Amino acid sequence: MQQRLEELDQAALRRRLRPADTQSLQLIDQHGQPRINFGSNDYLGLASQPLTAPARPPGDRLPPVDQPPRRGSGASALVCGHTLLHQRLIDALRQLEETEAAVLYPSGYAACSGCVAALARRGDLILSDALNHASLIDGCRLSKAERFVFAHADTEMVEALLKHHRRSFRNAWIVTDSVFSMDGDIAPLQRLAAIAARYDATLIVDEAHGTAVLGSDGSGACAALGIKDQVPIRIGTLSKALGAQGGFVVGPQVVIDYLLNHSRPLIYSTAAAPTTIAAALLGVQSIAEEPKKREHVQRLSRRLRAGLRSLGKDQPADDSLAAGVPIVPIRLGAAEAATAAAEQLWDRGFYVPAIRPPTVPPGTSRLRVSLSAAHSEQQVDALLEAIAHLPVA
Ligand SMILES: Cc1ncc(COP(=O)(O)O)c(C=O)c1O
Repeated sequence: MQQRLEELDQAALRRRLRPADTQSLQLIDQHGQPRINFGSNDYLGLASQPLTAPARPPGDRLPPVDQPPRRGSGASALVCGHTLLHQRLIDALRQLEETEAAVLYPSGYAACSGCVAALARRGDLILSDALNHASLIDGCRLSKAERFVFAHADTEMVEALLKHHRRSFRNAWIVTDSVFSMDGDIAPLQRLAAIAARYDATLIVDEAHGTAVLGSDGSGACAALGIKDQVPIRIGTLSKALGAQGGFVVGPQVVIDYLLNHSRPLIYSTAAAPTTIAAALLGVQSIAEEPKKREHVQRLSRRLRAGLRSLGKDQPADDSLAAGVPIVPIRLGAAEAATAAAEQLWDRGFYVPAIRPPTVPPGTSRLRVSLSAAHSEQQVDALLEAIAHLPVA
């Protein structure tokens, strides 16, 4: 183990925890030095806000919730960890997602891995995008189904695989992120939905980075592309734009009931704490109440991308959906270059994480800028200025 850690050190790939405190947009290191934080997935700036009581929606027939929420759920959802707050959040998610049913998981990772592992069974076929998040990949690995990994966003490959193999399998599942976490690009969801329909396959989409960021209703990339009704099973996290912690799956009642009976991270892990669920409920409520935050973070993303374009960096077209995604990578190639750039930005007052293998393929290390509605245009411009002065970028 020591030898392996030294190898990682030499290749600039060793990871370490750095104790930090985050206060709104500031990341404070252990020496008390503040930096503007461009590393958090808190896209709407909700995570650092104080916990208040979620409003009771009109027509809510559930009894009032204890105030303040109790600290822990005490058990798995199926034993006694599913509180009235959890039920309220499920109702709010069903409404947002316009689905028959929803179920909560202790994390987005558990939702992705647990959903795919349970639904795709022996005798089934899974087609999974090569750049899917680790949690979907692990779900595929845990499943007893046959797995094929298709080249990133390669719908021709998906179609060819289904054409040749579909008949040999009982069910076929196409599994993809909607917004890819390390590149900020969007899966070809419309084409995948059409292929799924043609070959009697089911599309499962992880909206971890789409929820509360994209779509006129704030439910994600599927909504923005007008195909919510063609993606029967969608996964989301409560931990990114919603500013809390936990995960969810939405879909037809039969699918959700099946997960409740077969999905191991849901059955054998303690339900998320009521405090966390109250925070998530506030997040879902703010999607409808504060569309301006969504618009602001999308505008910031377009502004940063325009600046990067003028520095000669490839960016999606300004009028594309992807240009509004608040994940903006700046590819630098070698892991050493990415860590050096991150350190230089740190010295200039910004925290931007360096993303290296194995999170991304070798030779594609990068800085990944994550924007938040709490950032201002001036802060984005200041970051651009600092990037322009990076010797390695
Ligand atoms: C695409 C994607 N899916 C799932 C997850 C897991 O979500 P969580 O952090 O809530 O466990 C993440 C977060 O890292 C992600 O980026």
